[in-house]
Amino acid sequence: MKIIESNFYNEALRFIRYGCEMGWHERNAGNISLRLLKEEVDSVSEDFAFEREWVSISYPVPEMANEFIFTTATGSYFIDIQNCAETKFCICQISGDGGSYRVVWGGTKPTSELCGHLMSLGQLRKRSANRAVYHCHPANTVALTYVLPKDDKSFSEALWESETECAFVFSEGVGLVPFFVPGSLDLAIATSEKIQKYNAVIWSFHGVFASGETIGSAFGLAHAIEKAAEIKIKVLSTGLPVLNTISTEEQKKTANTYGYKLNEFKD
Ligand code: 13P
Ligand code: ZN
Repeated sequence: MKIIESNFYNEALRFIRYGCEMGWHERNAGNISLRLLKEEVDSVSEDFAFEREWVSISYPVPEMANEFIFTTATGSYFIDIQNCAETKFCICQISGDGGSYRVVWGGTKPTSELCGHLMSLGQLRKRSANRAVYHCHPANTVALTYVLPKDDKSFSEALWESETECAFVFSEGVGLVPFFVPGSLDLAIATSEKIQKYNAVIWSFHGVFASGETIGSAFGLAHAIEKAAEIKIKVLSTGLPVLNTISTEEQKKTANTYGYKLNEFKD
């Protein structure tokens, strides 16, 4: 099968289009990665070429040794993704020691956030079936990073109380990292530390980095976070006293009803 006929490629195209409709992908904002399953690799490997150079990864990822990662190419304008779409994605093969990658299909260079994606996918596979990451720049979540205290607890609680279903969609909460230069190793390290505990990490002044079992579920998590952030921003923007909220007990009850346990942060 050709890669452009595969489910994962077409799923990525669809969700990128939805993200654009949400206004989350100005210019080249955002990137996606997916650790391919063996059967996915086998089904499209006729399209691979093993001629390009190995490139070293700034932080070795032994957990990802020999894996094939489907990702967006750096600088890709998602709003124009349909135009020459094959050049806006890459498949990277990770070397046997996890210290380098080579592009075996697609555009010339993977996302500048590759290291963060690889390190996070490596952590996620140790504790979950999540093998997809979706990164976007949604305005309300970013706006919250200007006004809330800079910690996981404040963000998790603010989002949980803003939309009823957040208590089970992300019962573990969300991680929050401070400002880092986009594409930097520091951002990659901080994100991969938070992802050991949370399925999504909010990047201060930048965006959301969400994981899932599929690209669609990673997108769904980012969407739930952004919707709750939008409600929180709207409530704050009224300037009115907040008379009502979803109490912690109600959040716990909601999570329990659906088989989850609300993370209890220590003060
Ligand atoms: P890339 O075009 O390199 O993927 O960068 C976009 C981005 O959002 C960086 O955080
Ligand atoms: Zn970004």
